[in-house]
Amino acid sequence: LDNGLALTPPMGWDSYNHYNCAPNQSIIESNAKAMKDFGLADLGYHYVITDCGWTIPERTANGTLTWNATLFPDGFPAMGAYIHSLGLGFGVYSDSGVQMCMTGFPNQTGSLDYEQTDADTFAAWGADLLKYDNCYSSKERGFPDTDYAPLSSPGPRFETMRHALNVTGREILYQVCEWGLDFPSAWAPQMGNTWRITNDIIPEWRTIFRQLNQFVPSAGYAGPGRWPDLDMLEVGNNVFTTPEEQLHFSLWAIAKSPLVLGSVLNDTLATIKQSSLSILSNTDVIGYNQDSLGKAANLTRRYTEAGLDVWAGPLSGDRTVAALVNWNNMTVAATLDLPDFGLQSAGTVKDVWNNKTLSNVETSYSAQIAAHGVLLLELGNTTPAGTYQAERCGRS
Ligand code: DGJ
Repeated sequence: LDNGLALTPPMGWDSYNHYNCAPNQSIIESNAKAMKDFGLADLGYHYVITDCGWTIPERTANGTLTWNATLFPDGFPAMGAYIHSLGLGFGVYSDSGVQMCMTGFPNQTGSLDYEQTDADTFAAWGADLLKYDNCYSSKERGFPDTDYAPLSSPGPRFETMRHALNVTGREILYQVCEWGLDFPSAWAPQMGNTWRITNDIIPEWRTIFRQLNQFVPSAGYAGPGRWPDLDMLEVGNNVFTTPEEQLHFSLWAIAKSPLVLGSVLNDTLATIKQSSLSILSNTDVIGYNQDSLGKAANLTRRYTEAGLDVWAGPLSGDRTVAALVNWNNMTVAATLDLPDFGLQSAGTVKDVWNNKTLSNVETSYSAQIAAHGVLLLELGNTTPAGTYQAERCGRS
């Protein structure tokens, strides 16, 4: 979406993966504060998004949405002001249907037919981002309804809210969240700053393979202002091993997905563990995500029998980022062949997670990769595949 926002993939935190549809003011504020205190804000994590579960079953007499005052005693404008006082962006959530997902509030608490009212309300509250969901998209369907069975096509409903946000005059980053139902990459780049291309991520290992596979046809649609969204991160939710978390974070980053944290950072009960925090704080990996070129890496080879994928993409400064993914349940000694993604050799190689830098890699790089882990390389001073061979042939 050409609204001047999200020139690089948006970064932040969202309540849903960890707290489901049960956020409250203390949860939002303590995690916002932790994002700042743990140094994440300085690394680019900016938006603090309150997902489903923030409103009440009825609109007000004026027809506006309002917050649940038991859960958010100071109210959304004050909470937004607190988030702003930390130097962070205030993200809100609504739905393009008659009610929001998983709340059981059927009385028009979704934004369908109230788009301008709700956009104006969010702008007046100081919102900087709207995540816009896709539940209960048809009035005709009646209640009870299932969350995930939309009947009307999402494009026009998401366009109505895009227009309404634009009319407010406030800069509000727009996240289209229709779960990749009808290949939104074909229409959402003009409509949203981000658009989900998959069903929800779940806290299980198989989700990572599924999300990445579904991303492949959308990679070419990424660019400044418009980013296919692989969904919020599960890093820090204590469901993955360290290699798995490295793989998850690396691939989301090089695919130029929004990097939206989905774990507890800090609340009254828990704090994110240090190993996860250090993965999420890796400045090389964040740098690949935020690279000024804005081109997504994609799958370039799948070695099905060996259980290995090669992903690669261009970075600014004539660099390339490449990932060798080990889907096997055991450590493997693997070799990344540079010609598999169009390079013959590299003058400089940074092996990110093994913390090694080398020079002059001719055609391949070998390393042990842990079960469900990734070898992530940044290559500079490269020779395109073919060129080098041709020169050699010419000389001999
Ligand atoms: C479906 C979305 O895809 C999720 O990210 C989350 O917002 C839930 N709805 C909330 O119910």
